Amino acid sequence: MAVSDLPRTIWWEDDKVLLLDETRLPLTGDVLVCNTFEGLILAIKSLAVRGAPALGAAGALGVALWCATEGKDFEAIDTAYHARATAVCNELAAARPTAVNLSWGVDKMRLIIEEQSAGMTPAGLAEAVIAAAEELCRADEAANRQLAANGAALFKEPTNFLTHCNAGSLATVFYGTALGVIYTAAEQGHVAHVWVDETRPVNQGARLTAWELLTAGVPSTLIADNMAGFIMHQGEVDAVIVGADRICANGDTANKIGTYSLSILAKEHRIPFYIAAPSSTFDTTLTDGSRIAIEARDPRELEGVTVSGRFDATTPEQQRALEAVCDSADSQLTMAQGHVMEIRRKGGGFSFDAWFKTTPTNVESFNPAFDVTPAAHITAFITELGVIFPDSAGDFSAPIARALV
Ligand code: MRU
Repeated sequence: MAVSDLPRTIWWEDDKVLLLDETRLPLTGDVLVCNTFEGLILAIKSLAVRGAPALGAAGALGVALWCATEGKDFEAIDTAYHARATAVCNELAAARPTAVNLSWGVDKMRLIIEEQSAGMTPAGLAEAVIAAAEELCRADEAANRQLAANGAALFKEPTNFLTHCNAGSLATVFYGTALGVIYTAAEQGHVAHVWVDETRPVNQGARLTAWELLTAGVPSTLIADNMAGFIMHQGEVDAVIVGADRICANGDTANKIGTYSLSILAKEHRIPFYIAAPSSTFDTTLTDGSRIAIEARDPRELEGVTVSGRFDATTPEQQRALEAVCDSADSQLTMAQGHVMEIRRKGGGFSFDAWFKTTPTNVESFNPAFDVTPAAHITAFITELGVIFPDSAGDFSAPIARALV
């Protein structure tokens, strides 16, 4: 068991975007094959691909996908091409509002279309955008490994960590941010143990982080979100380390709902609270966290449980029986708005999702996906550019501005 056993999250293959379907992990390792940018948007909205850095890659690959498909049908890169490309970029960037990496990844490709396409054919431009999107994916892994090395240097003794949501390899192209720091610290013998918040309501901690740490061979224990205070009070946590979806100029940080409460608990117990994120997660156009758009998600995430599972057929009889009970035996998933995506199933068989309501029929619910942790609760930002501490007045604004130049 090692970090190298973790799967890659999202990649380009044969003019398509392939991604590990994280809605079904850890039960299945299904891969979704997106052959239209609209299909990729559905995968983003459904959280098949999620986590800020992975969304950055998805945004860039999504633009490349449009250039390699619909974009190639244009006769030339003319006004009509630019108008459509702009609409596609806007649609991709708006698929999820909080993680700035998504629009960052889209905008990197948008710039190539807007500023470097003169004299190119649509096919030539597609090649250039594909190459740039693949380079952005490679750079994501490199940034994660560098920030992990920078962060691991903070921990010189075996440390008990607590983490929230999934800021691991599955939230990036590969390696992870907060978990990346933990992987590198573990290689250096400096991880005693990791507490994993389950992270209601979507359970990224229970499903994804718990699975990643088991796969990587890092000792860990799953807890419900409301147990963190008790465990801190028992003296079992030396450091909290989480990822980020958007970091403002003053250091206020949006991350998975529950991070803010955790930061208050850490402050109360005098436990250092670290944010691990690449420079692409900083949005210095926003002065402070009150300006961050917080995504509200489907109340059904809160009002019931989704059970994902798998039927496996080991004999031709079972296969026939399964085909008889499944709507589709051809490994295709017809999604909203008629988009069809191929699913590459690991080992054959069929996957299913079932949603069970567990709350009263007419219950009213509210499901914000993120919250904002004030900069004052944050000990340091761990980035590929270095570790950013506040100045002597406790202010992050100048240190962040200096680090990002
Ligand atoms: O809704 P999700 O699963 O996309 O939320 C993910 C998080 O909040 C992560 O902590 C964040 O994106 C950092 S990932 C390195």
